[in-house]
Amino acid sequence: MKKITCTAPVNIALIKYWGKRDEKLILPINSSLSITLDQNQLCATTTVTAGADLNEDRIWLNGLEESISKPRIQNVLKEIRCRSKLSELDEFAHVHIVSTNNFPTAAGLASSAAGYACLVFALAKLYEVDGEISDIARLGSGSACRSIYGGFVEWKKGTSVDGVDSHAVQIENNSYWPQLRILILVVNASKKSVSSTSGMQTSVATSDLLKTRSENIVPARLDEAKLAIKEKKFHDLTNIIMQESNQLHAICLDTLPPILYLNDVSKTIMKLVHQVNDYFGVNKLCYTFDAGPNAFIIVEEDNVPLVYNLIKTYFPPANKDSFLHGLEISEEETSQNLIEFIRMEPTPGAIDYVIHTKVGSGPQVLNR
Ligand code: PMV
Repeated sequence: MKKITCTAPVNIALIKYWGKRDEKLILPINSSLSITLDQNQLCATTTVTAGADLNEDRIWLNGLEESISKPRIQNVLKEIRCRSKLSELDEFAHVHIVSTNNFPTAAGLASSAAGYACLVFALAKLYEVDGEISDIARLGSGSACRSIYGGFVEWKKGTSVDGVDSHAVQIENNSYWPQLRILILVVNASKKSVSSTSGMQTSVATSDLLKTRSENIVPARLDEAKLAIKEKKFHDLTNIIMQESNQLHAICLDTLPPILYLNDVSKTIMKLVHQVNDYFGVNKLCYTFDAGPNAFIIVEEDNVPLVYNLIKTYFPPANKDSFLHGLEISEEETSQNLIEFIRMEPTPGAIDYVIHTKVGSGPQVLNR
């Protein structure tokens, strides 16, 4: 028996991927940019086993057996076997895959990105496939290609019809901007209503705004974001991040029928972020939302206690003891002037819990 266990991270897009130009190869209509999150707080763990006595491929996700014949899983397996010298050997004919997430699946927390990145990374180790593998992860779920690297990662859309140049590249590693922290405000951890796959298809078919975005907006914005990262300009970068999030959700609204991922709590969080930034006259924090209502708040380490306190003030937790997950946060009083400036009514119980994390590294081998 050959067996290997790996972990892979979640990533959150700063420049969003929304829309494919090729459904089967999962080729995007625009490039995107993300930060990889620390696997100590959020990760997928996958064990792959191969052996001559296995007589079929099988997969279990979070304890339940799933169909191995899903086209995306098949495409990944096919590509790994095609690139491996070991595929012809009897002991590599079949694999068993067991994968778990340590966070809610399909709640807008990029579980498929971590899951497919982990599957591809583990299979590549098992089948001894070297070189670029982010393009194989892309075949599972587009955003999964960015989870193959740590730190700041760009997914280059590529121009080739066969997708060879559509893969991820690391822009900076996870220790480049060590002060950055991410607070994930889990608003509603239930399954999302419209999958990103079907949402994108409808947007590509019906949204005029989407065409303008991919052709005229993203290329310049991506350059600006990369420059802001290079120069570590938090204020400039966070403005771009918020505009990007808002444009993704504007496109969802421009889609027919419209797709509404944000709920009232998400909007209240956005309002709070802008009020705080207005008060200070410079961005102390920003939000970004993927295909779900949960907010990803990006903030520098020094301002985490301030932001966490504001969250607890305006969204008083139903259960104080299990509200904070992940990295610890020290207590700090919020200034009365700020509270008076914000003038918002608290919404008790609207945020289920908070995950405090930071920028992290790429997939790891846990054991062989
Ligand atoms: O890779 P998918 O199909 O889960 O799509 C991800 C889409 C967004 O999360 C909304 C944006 C992104 O770039 O991650």
